[in-house]
Amino acid sequence: MTTATSMSPLVRDAHMLAKSLLADDPRRLAHVRGAALIAGMASGALRVDQPETVVAAALLHDIGYAPAVARTGFHPLDGALFLAREGWPESVVLLVGHHSHAVLLAPYYRVHNAMALLDRVPGQAEDIITFSDLRAGANGMGAAPRDRIDDMRRRHADRLFIPADIREARFRMMLTAAARINAAVHRATRTQPPRNLDDRQAALGTLVPRGVRA
Ligand SMILES: [Fe+2]
Repeated sequence: MTTATSMSPLVRDAHMLAKSLLADDPRRLAHVRGAALIAGMASGALRVDQPETVVAAALLHDIGYAPAVARTGFHPLDGALFLAREGWPESVVLLVGHHSHAVLLAPYYRVHNAMALLDRVPGQAEDIITFSDLRAGANGMGAAPRDRIDDMRRRHADRLFIPADIREARFRMMLTAAARINAAVHRATRTQPPRNLDDRQAALGTLVPRGVRA
């Protein structure tokens, strides 16, 4: 069986771009591939419009870390600006720019004026990217959102220029978004999404974009 995402040139192109920009960062590449698998599963279960857009954004959400892309040092914005310059669809640009409630941190990277130019995509798409970011561990394997947040708390501990209450507010918003999607998927499928990526892929393989498996 084929799906919109498995046939999508957009997903194929996003995978190629992520592979090339993150070639020197295999853990991050594994993470975005894992996020794309989960985004494909959630988008399919929730029957979102244009699931290929959500999967492409999941694949590309961290390209702003790539040296060829980084400009301001704020990776959501750098990724979005790069994609806009390269002519990617606006919805992909906006989902990358706003992934995981990035706007809350923008003032502390002095990029809030640029971020203010990026609209937010209405609907569930943004929540699905956040859900996928939290459910895909740093190595791409399935993770529990709270464990991922604890990991981020440790990794971001030296970012003292971001007030602790802002960091924690963002983490709470991310967990809330992930919980919204988890509950919606549960309602839609009447099952708890499997925690293990292999189980999820086996159970929901037809929803997963084929290009992402390569
Ligand atoms: Fe991520």
